[in-house]
Amino acid sequence: MAVFEINRSVLSWRLAVGWTWLWHFSSDQMRYEIRQLGRPAESYTQGETPASVLRVIAEKTGMGLGTRVLDIGCGRGSALAYWARVWGAAPIGIEEVPALGGATQALFNGLSISGTVIVGNFETVEWPDADVIYVAGTCFSPSAVRDLQRKLAHCSAKTKIAVITLELPTTQFDLIDAVSVRFAWGKSMLRVYRRIT
Ligand SMILES: C[S@@+](CC[C@H](N)C(=O)[O-])C[C@H]1O[C@@H](n2cnc3c(N)ncnc32)[C@H](O)[C@@H]1O
Repeated sequence: MAVFEINRSVLSWRLAVGWTWLWHFSSDQMRYEIRQLGRPAESYTQGETPASVLRVIAEKTGMGLGTRVLDIGCGRGSALAYWARVWGAAPIGIEEVPALGGATQALFNGLSISGTVIVGNFETVEWPDADVIYVAGTCFSPSAVRDLQRKLAHCSAKTKIAVITLELPTTQFDLIDAVSVRFAWGKSMLRVYRRIT
């Protein structure tokens, strides 16, 4: 009887592993990771948003074919490439580090994505119109955050603003949705806002 019990638990464990494996390999996340071969390992050190969170952002902001999504501090463009290839979005990135802006452009070229990369400080460059603005606000200084809020206060009232970690003042922005999301470094809050008119 004891042997049967052990076998049953081994079988359940194998089924659970098999199910997780199947789910992962059939998901858009895995397809995206295949395209990103060679890059996921560096994703953590680059502070990139994982695909599981990018998917939640896409769902919460209603992203779809042609949605113009602007990533403030787009890094190597992984988030934008995911939304473009998996959700059909039209990506726009602002990145102050030229090498990272170049990496975003190279990723767009490599994946045949037609997108826009603006190399410069988000505080000084002009922001193109967007349906969704994404701010992974984990690495901005307090003064950059103040500038960011000033810029966001001028975006279209229809634009959905998805923000990680930071909170925007509810005197200026309506909080539409908030959900806890998991990064490699721990849990954070994703908040989706719209500017109050
Ligand atoms: C944590 S990474 C996020 C990358 C990407 N948005 C993602 O979520 O995967 C933040 C990026 O913002 C860029 N950044 C920081 N301050 C900036 C500024 N003032 N203007 C433009 N880019 C900035 C950094 O160089 C870095 O590449």
